[in-house]
Amino acid sequence: MTKNIKHTFAQSGWSPDSWRAHTALQQPIYNDISEVRSVESQLQSLPALVSMAEIEQLKIKLAAACNGEAFLLQGGDCAETFADFSTPSIQNLFKVLMQMAVVLTYAGRVPVIKVGRIAGQFAKPRSTNVEVRDGVSLPSFRGDIINGIEFSAAARQANPQRMLQAYHQSMATVNLLRSFTLDGLADLHQVNAWNLDFVRANPACERYKQLADQLCDALAFMEVCGVSSATTPALRQTEVFTSHEALLLNYEQSLLQQVNSRANTDVVTGAYYAMSAHMLWIGERTRQLNGAHVEFLRGVQNPLGIKISSAIEPAELSALIQRLNPNNIAGRITLISRMGADNTARHLPALAQRVASEGHKVVWSCDPMHGNTIKTANGMKTRSFDSIMSEIEQFFAVLPAYGQYPGGLHLEMTGAHVTECVGGAYHISETDLASCYKTQCDPRLNAQQVLELSFRVAELIRGDTART
Ligand code: PEP
Ligand code: CO
Repeated sequence: MTKNIKHTFAQSGWSPDSWRAHTALQQPIYNDISEVRSVESQLQSLPALVSMAEIEQLKIKLAAACNGEAFLLQGGDCAETFADFSTPSIQNLFKVLMQMAVVLTYAGRVPVIKVGRIAGQFAKPRSTNVEVRDGVSLPSFRGDIINGIEFSAAARQANPQRMLQAYHQSMATVNLLRSFTLDGLADLHQVNAWNLDFVRANPACERYKQLADQLCDALAFMEVCGVSSATTPALRQTEVFTSHEALLLNYEQSLLQQVNSRANTDVVTGAYYAMSAHMLWIGERTRQLNGAHVEFLRGVQNPLGIKISSAIEPAELSALIQRLNPNNIAGRITLISRMGADNTARHLPALAQRVASEGHKVVWSCDPMHGNTIKTANGMKTRSFDSIMSEIEQFFAVLPAYGQYPGGLHLEMTGAHVTECVGGAYHISETDLASCYKTQCDPRLNAQQVLELSFRVAELIRGDTART
C-alpha cells in the first residue's frame, strides 16, 4: 500500500464470480448460454473504459465530499439508448453539467465533482417482468444493453450481443467526454457566458440575476489579477467521471480487472477494479444484503453509490455499509437518498442519526427524482419541479442537524429541451408533455429546469432562505 490511499482489498470469500451463488434480481433470461459465455469472453479481451488511477482519484475527491469539502454532481439520462447516441446529445449534457457546476462551486465555495450517468447507463430494473398490451404479454424492456424497446417478441428477447454494442458506445462516449474536458467546452468564461444567456432568457430572471452578476464580478476581478482561461489551464479544463447502475452482472464481471504486480503504485497488487465506469451504484431494487449485487460490489475497489428509499431501516443500512465498506474508507460509499418529497423529512433523520452515531464516513447525495414519479391522467410518467425542489430542501435541512453534510445531487437530466417533467419557470404543464417527450424510461429535467434547480440549490447552500 502506498501514499495515503487505503483499500477495501481483500474481502474474504470473494471472487469475481462469487455473486453467482447468490440470488441476482432483475437479470435477463438469455436463451443461449453459450452465446452469453462467448460475449463475456470477448468483453474480457477488450480494453478497459476507465483507468484504475482515475478511479482512485475519484475516491479521493469523494472523501472530501464526506466532510463538506467538495460537492458531488451526478447526472444524466435515466437510460442511455442506442438510437439517441450522437455528439450533440453528449455535448449538450456536458455543457449543462459544466454550467451547473460553476453555479454550485461559486455558491458552495468548494470544488464540484462532476460525474455523468453516462457511458454505461443502459440496464434498467423494472417493477414487473412482463408488459401486457391488448392482451399480449411480452418480457419487459430492460434497457438497450439487454433487449429492444419495441413491443415485439423478437425485440423483447434478451440478446447478449447487445452487451458488445453497449460497450462500444460507452467507449466512444468516454472518448468524446475526454476531448470535451480539454477543449473550449470547459472554459470557465465560456460556461459563464452560457449561464448569462440562461438567466437573461429565464422568466425568473430577477431571482437569479444577483448570483449571476456576482459570478461575473468574480471572474472580472480574477482577470484583472492576471488569472484568466488564457493564463490558467485550470480555468479551461476539467474532469468528468462516469457512472452507472451496476445491474447487469454478466457485463460487469466481464470488465473486471485485477491489478498485476507491474501496475502503478497507486493501486494494490491483487485488488480488483470494475473497469466499466469510475463509480457504480446499487439500485433500490437490488440492494439486498445477501443478494448478488452486494456480493459482487463488495469485492471491487471503485467508489460505490447505494440508492436508499424510505423502505430501508437504520439497522439494514448500517449492515449494508459495513458489508461494502468494512474499513470505513472515506469516498468509498455515497448514500443516494431517493425518498420522495412526502417521505424525506420523515425517514431521513433516523438514517442520518444512525450513520452519525456509528461514525460511517459517507457522502450523502440527494436523488430527488425517483421518489417523485407520478402519472398524468393519460398515463404519462412525469415529475414536478416543485416536488423535486421540496425533496432537495428537506435533504439540506435534515442532514446538518446530525452533523452530516448534504454532499451531492443525483439527477436524471438532459441537455436537450425535452418536456418530460412539469413545472419550472417555463411552466411546463401536463398538456405540454406530449410535445417533446423522448425518454425511454423515466422523465428527465431539461436544460432550463436543471439550471434553474442549480440556482435554487445555490440559494440553499448560501442560506438564502428568504427566497425559497
Ligand atoms: C435509476 O437511477 O434510474 C433507478 C432505477 O433508481 P432507483 O434504483 O433509485 O429506483
Ligand atoms: Co430512472
